[in-house]
Amino acid sequence: MKYFHFTLLVIAMAIVASASAQQLPLYLNDNAPIEQRVEDALARMTLDEKIAVIHAQSKFSSPGVKRLGFPDFWTDDGPHGVRPDVLWDEWEQAGQTNDSCVAFPALTCLAASWNPMLAELYGRSLGEEARYRGKDMILGPGVNINRNPLNGRNFEYMGEDPLLASRMVVPYVQGLQSTGTAACVKHFCLNNDEEYRHQVNVIVSDRALREIYLPAFEAAVKEGHTWGIMGSYNLYKDQHCCHNEYTLNQILKGDWKYDGVVVSDWGGAHDTEQAIKSGLDMEFGSWTDGLAWGASNAYDAYYMALPYKKLIEEGKLTTRELDDKVRRVLRLFFRTTMSDKRARGFLCSEAHYDAALKIAQDGIVLLQNKRNVLPIDASKAKHILVVGENAIKMMTVGGGSSSLKAQHEILPLDGLKTRLAGTGIEVDYARGYVGDTTGEYNGVVAKQSLADTRPASELIAEAVAKARQADYVIIFGGLNKSDYQDAEGHDRKHMDLPYGQDALVEALARVNKNVVFVNISGNAVAMPWRDKVAAIVQGWFIGSEAGTAFASILMGDANPSGKLPFTWPVNLNDVAAHALGTYPGTWRDGHKIIDEEYKEGIYVGYRWADKQKRKPMFAFGHGLSYTTFAVSNLRLNRNEVAADGTVTATVTVKNTGKRAGAEVIQLYLSDHNTAVDMPVKELRGFQKVTLEPGESRDVTITIGGRAFQYWDEAKGDWATSLGKRTVLVGTASDNLPLKATFTVQ
Ligand code: BGC
Repeated sequence: MKYFHFTLLVIAMAIVASASAQQLPLYLNDNAPIEQRVEDALARMTLDEKIAVIHAQSKFSSPGVKRLGFPDFWTDDGPHGVRPDVLWDEWEQAGQTNDSCVAFPALTCLAASWNPMLAELYGRSLGEEARYRGKDMILGPGVNINRNPLNGRNFEYMGEDPLLASRMVVPYVQGLQSTGTAACVKHFCLNNDEEYRHQVNVIVSDRALREIYLPAFEAAVKEGHTWGIMGSYNLYKDQHCCHNEYTLNQILKGDWKYDGVVVSDWGGAHDTEQAIKSGLDMEFGSWTDGLAWGASNAYDAYYMALPYKKLIEEGKLTTRELDDKVRRVLRLFFRTTMSDKRARGFLCSEAHYDAALKIAQDGIVLLQNKRNVLPIDASKAKHILVVGENAIKMMTVGGGSSSLKAQHEILPLDGLKTRLAGTGIEVDYARGYVGDTTGEYNGVVAKQSLADTRPASELIAEAVAKARQADYVIIFGGLNKSDYQDAEGHDRKHMDLPYGQDALVEALARVNKNVVFVNISGNAVAMPWRDKVAAIVQGWFIGSEAGTAFASILMGDANPSGKLPFTWPVNLNDVAAHALGTYPGTWRDGHKIIDEEYKEGIYVGYRWADKQKRKPMFAFGHGLSYTTFAVSNLRLNRNEVAADGTVTATVTVKNTGKRAGAEVIQLYLSDHNTAVDMPVKELRGFQKVTLEPGESRDVTITIGGRAFQYWDEAKGDWATSLGKRTVLVGTASDNLPLKATFTVQ
């Protein structure tokens, strides 16, 4: 009897289970393939629901489909930490108490680490912060090429070289998306200036487009499998890049077979028909169709809202384009909001601070170190003078959309004081110059008063008097995140240091031989006093752990290993965009569009410096260490290779100094093809290797595929350049002592 009851129970349970399995719609079945779930969900959606999911409902969110159980979709900036919440329909911060974050180093610093493993760690850590904050997409990373050192937003990007940016963006995207948070790689494409960013129409050769400006995006799509791409504000071929037939439909979705969403930059959509037909999938931040800048609750007036619906209802359009957009959005939902495999979120965990510190230490670049003045010798130093506003200024607030509300930010002066506490070394401070003392962005206010009304002469005199008594003078200067510096919306007007810093540095160098200039910026600055100071450190904007990271590098607890991700020109005449008079461009009649022709073509950064035989202030890939390395014995595994084959180069690297340290082995190829215009050399591979004193190791770098190709404009395709190549290997683009040759057949 007991057995009979048990059997009945089992049968009843089986019936219930199978009934509920039958009732579970396909789109909710986690085990079904995503494409089937997408089609099933699409078939159930009304026209209104479809229109709703392709445009914003608030400053940073778009709606899901409540009736079907799809949650709202939340985006947020990006790319250096999770931006504090803003009000639903206003740019002002919402004033939450749980949205302070870890500020990770700016992407220029990450790129300067030349360490793809750290890019993965960066993306993953940021993704965990995003998960905690309920964000489904981070608006980043940015991979626009540094073509012009005045660009206000270079600090958010990964330098001038397409290969370096590609190798760094892929693991960032993978790390971020491993947490179930979508990346939104931006700004696609040719957004290389901030000034007039809504009006610039870029004119560039197909070859430069494919070889210089697109590879990092292409890698993010094909290798990183990014789920999001953000269209840029500027125009290309007279069409805004948020709805651009050529870049979005033909290249991104056509050639590269991208299956994710194209998100407009905030306010980057301008036309309903183009938005529908030319590749845009999700519209954000529109200024409401001319109603008023930022008019509230005007989301229905978006180009892809009621105006789109009307065209369909009037029979002027089918839902063909709409369905493609919605498919992409649904795919995004299944990858993020509907995924049951998403990581748990952690905000401000110890691991995230550790990651921020490690990335900062790996990315700081020691540009100059005369007489090995650094690291500071703690056994000899008694008195260190710190000078400069950037030693006491928060840099996580400001700069535009990447501004953060950091849970903490250790300032450089505090970092040094903490490090030296109890050592008997005295740390003094002199302001030296007064720059921007405001420190506020979208309602996030830097908690510090920088007010100082003393005139420059007095500030310099005070610093000089103190410098006479000091063993070391560490100046924290450079730029900041104020308008017309390293900030969104404008470019710098010149390359000079602001706020009279040159005079300050000169004055200090006259009275102290151990002056160290730590330059805080995302861009190169002019340094007419370079030879007068002992050391120069490129410090970037490095976020929460800035002070700790600087102290560890200056004191030698960490050994610098960063390498410049861009060429540091002496002045603007060394930069192609300026030398050729192409920047900022030429206004068309009516002053609505400014044409900027990239006349230098593929000759950007070191490619231009090589071609012009101009010696930069500091070369691409340059960066010193506290130890020394010897690279030797370059050998190739073959001397002849087929177009679709690979060549492996091996070199021996030895740490010949007394400290553990890391070196970046860089491999460039020089193509001897005379039928095609070829740069003197191009970076084709690199590897960072950490070695103990005396240790040596073989480093192998394999190259092939695109490394042997160029974009053939006549064919409109990649072509292999046959013939001889010289392999150049070393530790900076201007320090490549090892050579070998091979032939591509
Ligand atoms: C910026 C984007 C940013 C967006 C949202 C735009 O102005 O160009 O990079 O993601 O605003 O804040």
